[in-house]
Amino acid sequence: MTTISLRQQINPHFYKMWNTNKPYVVLNGGRGSFKSSVVSLKLCVELLKFVEQRCKGNVICIMDNISHIKDAVYSQIQWALDLLGVADEFYFRVSPMTIMHRKTGNSFHFYGADDPMKLKSNKVTDVIAVWFEEFANMKSVDVFDQSVPTFIRNASPHVDHVTVYVSYNPPKNPYDWINEWVTSKENDDDYLIDHSTYLDDELGFTTPQTLKLIEGYKANDYDYYRWLYLGEVVGLGTNVYNIELFNPLDKLPDDQSINALFYSVDTGHEVSATTCGCYGLTNLGNVILLDTYYYSPQGKSHKKPPSELAKDLKGFIDKCTNEYGLQPDRMTIDSAEGALDNQFYNDYGVHWHKVNKLKNIDMVDRVQDLLAQGRFYYLDTDANKVFIEEHKKYQWDENTLQSDDPKVVKVDDHTVDQFKYFVRDNERQLGLKW
Ligand SMILES: Nc1ncnc2c1ncn2[C@@H]1O[C@H](COP(=O)(O)OP(=O)(O)O)[C@@H](O)[C@H]1O
Ligand SMILES: [Mg+2]
Repeated sequence: MTTISLRQQINPHFYKMWNTNKPYVVLNGGRGSFKSSVVSLKLCVELLKFVEQRCKGNVICIMDNISHIKDAVYSQIQWALDLLGVADEFYFRVSPMTIMHRKTGNSFHFYGADDPMKLKSNKVTDVIAVWFEEFANMKSVDVFDQSVPTFIRNASPHVDHVTVYVSYNPPKNPYDWINEWVTSKENDDDYLIDHSTYLDDELGFTTPQTLKLIEGYKANDYDYYRWLYLGEVVGLGTNVYNIELFNPLDKLPDDQSINALFYSVDTGHEVSATTCGCYGLTNLGNVILLDTYYYSPQGKSHKKPPSELAKDLKGFIDKCTNEYGLQPDRMTIDSAEGALDNQFYNDYGVHWHKVNKLKNIDMVDRVQDLLAQGRFYYLDTDANKVFIEEHKKYQWDENTLQSDDPKVVKVDDHTVDQFKYFVRDNERQLGLKW
């Protein structure tokens, strides 16, 4: 490993953070701006210096949840050690989650913020650095405030200070805790705050395919591009969705074929509606809303029981199956729903897949991502009108916009919910990267 080879791996934008002597280094910015790559390389280089000097030195890496670590920060460190050509000098363990230098025992330790006691009463000694990766995903700054003092107490005697790295992509909402937190640190001399974007890639690592993808976002939804790739805090606006990004179709496009059909249900019994969307995924990766089932019990004296709703849904699915000649790929339902799924299973022997719900704002974001890529279409039919009307009306509640946890106005949002469930439940197949 020589200085020359490192220079070829690190974009000049990051020289400042690389060489700073400040104890707190905050890197924020857009997706793919090399934040994670650079921090991982820096941490590996620092740990290796301790190896060379035959000193003990350990690094702590923290993410919101232990289950996210293996595919993210752990792999990132692995990647950096590989790049530096030293991976075979390390043991890679998953339980406990550590990457250890074979000869010296110097290690990277990985923790989830979901286990605060492990952090607060952490026993790792000779700490040289701490990394909070994807810091915006933490619930609050508490994990930082509570654990950093522990790591500082356990600092290596060979460092002036433990260096704490924080990296994240800023959320859209200016009132999100992390956006307020970073603002509060702007004039703090102990903090280096650096903002980067993919445009800082002087060394040309970003592949043409990625650049093309980015150009797609930029052309379709400039604000979303500003947020995702420029890392700007663009705000939430009042409307949750930009209705211009829902593209109407008179008929199926000649140049595309439907490769898979998906269904998604949101249920209601007393007063709220039950709706099912039928979505097609095309050979070009576009999503088309083909048909919508919608039943509202409002104002009806005889409200349909689950047995009748199950029959309706079966009829709807059979109709679409015949029309498009495709069996359902996945049928998604609200995870809170039990009665209708049981009924459907009882009558037709098929279970619906219960969606693993996230915070509403995170499910909304996945839909916005699909829309921003210009990949969403709907057949402009009577049945699908309710879908468009509800999405047009879907708004943030003004009274909650200036908070860390904005809420939506909960009216007529049943198709909105089933659309979110569909996107969330099939995010991999839809090529939404998370
Ligand atoms: N030195 C490098 N050589 C080749 N590819 C790199 C190098 N550094 C980063 N990359 C690639 O650039 C992409 C984006 O970098 P990443 O650090 O994940 O960005 P961010 O954390 O800002 O979203 C990744 O796919 C990574 O593999
Ligand atoms: Mg990253």
